[in-house]
Amino acid sequence: MEARTLIERKRNGGRIDAAEWRSLMKHYAAGEVPDYQMAALAMAIYFVGLDRTEIGALTDAMLESGAMLQLDHLAVGRVDKHSTGGVGDKVSLVLAPLVAVCGVAVPMMSGRGLGHTGGTLDKLEAIPGFRTDLSLERATRQLEAIGCALMGQTREIAPADRKLYALRDATATVESIPLISASIMSKKLAEGLTGLVLDVKYGSGAFLPELERGLTLARTMIELGADHGCPVVALLTAMDRPLGRACGNALEVEESIAALRGDGPADLMDVTYALGAEMLVLGGAASSRNEARRRMEVAISSGRAARKFQEIIEAQGGNPAVVDDPGLLPQAAECELYLAQRDGVVAQVEPRAIGRGITALGGGRTRVDDQVDPSVGFVITARPGDVVRAGEPLATIFARDAAGVAAGRRALGESIRLADEADPPLPLISHRVTPAGVAVWASEDEEP
Ligand code: URA
Repeated sequence: MEARTLIERKRNGGRIDAAEWRSLMKHYAAGEVPDYQMAALAMAIYFVGLDRTEIGALTDAMLESGAMLQLDHLAVGRVDKHSTGGVGDKVSLVLAPLVAVCGVAVPMMSGRGLGHTGGTLDKLEAIPGFRTDLSLERATRQLEAIGCALMGQTREIAPADRKLYALRDATATVESIPLISASIMSKKLAEGLTGLVLDVKYGSGAFLPELERGLTLARTMIELGADHGCPVVALLTAMDRPLGRACGNALEVEESIAALRGDGPADLMDVTYALGAEMLVLGGAASSRNEARRRMEVAISSGRAARKFQEIIEAQGGNPAVVDDPGLLPQAAECELYLAQRDGVVAQVEPRAIGRGITALGGGRTRVDDQVDPSVGFVITARPGDVVRAGEPLATIFARDAAGVAAGRRALGESIRLADEADPPLPLISHRVTPAGVAVWASEDEEP
């Protein structure tokens, strides 16, 4: 296998066959194909694309470059959720304990924040002591014991994807549907799942802002799951404004704890229940989405979901007392209100500016190895469509110092637009995609 030949062929619109993908990814993972050749190939794929057979072959090649979680011995279904990323998206922190307590095992493998989007691992690590670097063996034991493990992509899982994703991030080749689909599915299929639920974000703050591209991504990943006997369901959810009110790692943990205690913001709960219902049905713990939702509501109102989160925190070395006392989470030194400058309607709370603002405050990354300050961020109470009066609070800035407060003000000034009137925001959940096709979203209440 000569990498140069494959690059040239792809650049000229040709195909790479399954044996070539396997050999290429094996040698790349072993350090025998240099990054500059993979970068050139990624750029060729970005422009030329891959056909459906090539996407499947690349997925398999990356999956086979590493190990898999072996969970067949568990008596219950194993279902994960993957989000394509957003701002204020703390759904995983609420969903994983909630679904686990309802009887489906959740081996959840998440990523770190990069660019304007946050990452579940950074949020979890805001909990003092919490470790996300579980080995496959430890994750398996934890899944057997408490039905949930919240972990990062270990060195053993899809190492070829791990290298390629970092390279794509540095070479502006992330936004390619074939590469995103193969990257996500190679990791998810390595989790030994019996089902997968995708939260595909669309809107200005999403990786792929256009709804049509989100639907294509969802369909591609559903087909890749079907190739491996793993049923996949996708919901298209809005990322034209942050999800919930809290944006920033420790602040989002605090909001997640409130959600698990029955006091979560409505949009966060709607998305969580919708995704959770799909997970419980796919995992065989509920026969309909309506039944699944009722079970989740009871798990929250009974306190069992919050206790499950405590169990997970304890199992992963964190301080479980944060669930009863979120004041134990890292606290920002400075805290200031951001007020409306005029009467009007909230026309926009643009998420990219918020995500970039968190990074400016020290709470996000511009490079993979940047340290994040978990305490900083925003709590944004203004929602698109709200009518506000001059002087009313729209948000609170949490910062390390006065310079951080000033950076926070600039970010909120860019993000929040007040006007005389406003278009309605995107539907919070717009479509449901299954192997049977794409349907406009219908809430659980309309289900039989
Ligand atoms: N997340 C991934 O894991 N891979 C991608 O390519 C994009 C988002």
